[in-house]
This record gives sequence, C-alpha cells and structure tokens, in this order.
Amino acid sequence: MLNYATASSEETQALAKRLGERVQPGDVLCLSGDLGAGKTTFTQGLARGLGVEEPVSSPTFTIIKEYDDGRIPLYHMDIYRLGDAAVHEDLGYDEYFYGEGVSVIEWSEFLEDLIPEDRLLVHITLAEGDGRHLQMTATGPRSSARLKELEQLCPTSH
Ligand SMILES: Nc1ncnc2c1ncn2[C@@H]1O[C@H](COP(=O)(O)OP(=O)(O)O)[C@@H](O)[C@H]1O
Ligand SMILES: [Mg+2]
Repeated sequence: MLNYATASSEETQALAKRLGERVQPGDVLCLSGDLGAGKTTFTQGLARGLGVEEPVSSPTFTIIKEYDDGRIPLYHMDIYRLGDAAVHEDLGYDEYFYGEGVSVIEWSEFLEDLIPEDRLLVHITLAEGDGRHLQMTATGPRSSARLKELEQLCPTSH
C-alpha cells in the first residue's frame, strides 16, 4: 500500500500524471472517496499523463466517456447516478475492462463483482484545507507492478 498526501488539486494531478505515464492496456483503477474528494481531479491528471488533450470533465450524465487522443484510450466511468442499478445495465463494461485502454472508475462500489480482481484502489480523503490523503492499494500482480513504478517516480515520505 502507498500513502500520499497532497496540498492542492495541482499536486493531486501531478501525482496522477506520473501514474498516467505508466498505465497499460487493461489496467483498472477504482477511485473512491466522498463527493468533492478529488476523484475527477485525479482522473484529469492521469489523462494528462496519457497525453489526452481533450478536457476531462465529470462524466456523471454519460456514465462512460472515452478519450482516444492519448497514448492508450482512457475509459472514464462515473457510476454514481446508476447506483445499485449499475450491475443490471448492459453498458458493455467488459469491452472497456478487457479492452485496449485504461479504465478509471468513480463509485466502483456499485459495480463491484463486474470489475476485474486485479485493480488499483485509490481512496481519497479530505485533510486540512485543500489537503487530501490518497491511499493506494494493489490487489494483484498487474496493479502491484504499477504501484512499484509509481513509488519509484514519486517516493512517499514514510
Ligand atoms: N488536494 C486536492 N486534491 C484534489 N482536489 C482538490 C484538492 N484541493 C482542492 N481540491 C478541489 O476539490 C474538488 C474535487 O472535486 P472532484 O475532483 O470533482 O471530486 P469528486 O470527483 O471526488 O467528486 C475540486 O474543486 C478540486 O479543485
Ligand atoms: Mg467526480
């Protein structure tokens, strides 16, 4: 597990950008944390690391938005609006999870069993002022490899 503290949205994006430079096709990131924690902000940084030029917005009304102008496709999902109904919606989730790009999922708890087991969990909590704590957990070899690479690029202080 890796723990990071950021003091601004720019710092959160800079961290996510480093990860975005490393992610591989089939990687799955699950972002959790309250509304306003910084899940979409994190995704914006990751997109920048992929070289996505198109601005990344909150996909709440589209559920899944695909960005194709980076190194590999970014599939940005926000399941919040579907809630418990998400598992019954046939949105072709597997096409994304097992596709050519990286999937970043906000409110993944509503999809739980449909998401590949090997996923990188990023939990964001509020701290003082604009501070955030980011707790990153790997759940398999793929996500562990990504965390190791990130740790080399962005060493944690503890
Ligand atoms: N350290 C920080 N990391 C991320 N976002 C931050 C931070 N400090 C302030 N913010 C602000 O908090 C808000 C997070 O919103 P957003 O990323 O949409 O959250 P979520 O997607 O989790 O609901 C943004 O307005 C962002 O600028
Ligand atoms: Mg969001």
